[in-house]
Amino acid sequence: MRLKIAVLAGDGIGPEVTQQATNILRAVAELGGHDFTFVEGLIGGVAITKTGSPLPTTTLDAALDSDAVLLGAVGDNQFNALPPDKRPEAGLLQIRQALGGFANLRPSIAYAALATSSPLRPEVTKDVDILFVRELLGGLYFGAPRWWDRDSNEAINTMRYTRDEIVRVARVAFELASKRRKKVTSVDKANVLEVSQLWRATVTEVAKDYPVVTLEHQLVDSMAMHIMNIPRNFDVVLTENLFGDILSDEAGVITGSLGMLPSATIGGAVNLYEPVHGSAPDIAGTGKANPLGAILTAAMVLRHSANLEQDARAVEQAVHTVLNAGYRTADIARGQDPGQTPVTTQEMGKLVHQALTESI
Ligand code: NAD
Ligand code: IPM
Ligand code: MN
Repeated sequence: MRLKIAVLAGDGIGPEVTQQATNILRAVAELGGHDFTFVEGLIGGVAITKTGSPLPTTTLDAALDSDAVLLGAVGDNQFNALPPDKRPEAGLLQIRQALGGFANLRPSIAYAALATSSPLRPEVTKDVDILFVRELLGGLYFGAPRWWDRDSNEAINTMRYTRDEIVRVARVAFELASKRRKKVTSVDKANVLEVSQLWRATVTEVAKDYPVVTLEHQLVDSMAMHIMNIPRNFDVVLTENLFGDILSDEAGVITGSLGMLPSATIGGAVNLYEPVHGSAPDIAGTGKANPLGAILTAAMVLRHSANLEQDARAVEQAVHTVLNAGYRTADIARGQDPGQTPVTTQEMGKLVHQALTESI
């Protein structure tokens, strides 16, 4: 199996966690006799500093020329005063648009070993396995007009969707649900927003093609509550762009930490893989970053871009093994014996690597 992976580590903890993820991919290649090549590129704040642009052309070209793009995180407080189109985050939005993936898959799974890591009670998180399907190329992020008029003190963003944009992401949600627990929960704000009324009507129509899948609609505000209250009730959760951004971070609480969450964006020319978390400037450079979200993202690369399902599972199993053995980074150390020191980013990466090589 040959795979050319563009690695865009980005800012803050991005490079720290991505290093651990690529180590795992290298191990899989070595153990399975695969030919994985890694091409590094600049994105985000580090790219602005070195080239003046958050997404240099060389990076975009390398990404478009690859089989998969693995991204760490972007964002750096030193650019906070810049307008949105000049910030590190603009590089991420530009590459998402250029690669064309519109369905962002964000699994949120409660690992039994992490039952005490979540502030939720173990009986609430037990057996939770939610898959968010977040629309990634529409809504407020890309709608026009958008501006901030500093003279009149007025600003505008536009939430816009077309029927076709909703149909294509809804189909992904229903296809995935039909291979899982056969339930789609579509999230909107149809009691207030026209866009949400179009969303609800369109998803209802798409559902007719999937009679084995049950569809329910939830308003986003009460959904934020239901997800914490009875997370086990949800299978596939289909959302527009911003609602999915917010709810998937919230679902990090179920797993114990935002640092546990992986993602894959499919449907475009090249799939994009990124952990859900950001650059975490508050812990960057301290060795405290949890690399498991990035490592589980590497497993998604194997599953969705290399068709290596068995290897993807082996990586996920290696993560289980390490967690079952009691190893924790600081963010998931809640409920551990206070005398037990958390492991660093690098140590956690090495432990997963070791568990993986011993299992294959
Ligand atoms: P964040 O996700 O970076 O961090 C939120 C909190 O979670 C912080 O306390 C952080 O320390 C913790 N955290 C996040 N990832 C962790 C990990 N792997 N291990 C342990 N703890 C972890 O969100 P934020 O602080 O709101 O944003 C910081 C910057 O990141 C901003 O510039 C934002 O725009 C950017 N951001 C980028 C992405 C991305 O590149 N995909 C995603 C989200 C936020
Ligand atoms: C995410 C992030 C991004 C988003 C930002 C950094 C543009 O929060 O990937 O969840 O809002 O999509
Ligand atoms: Mn986010």
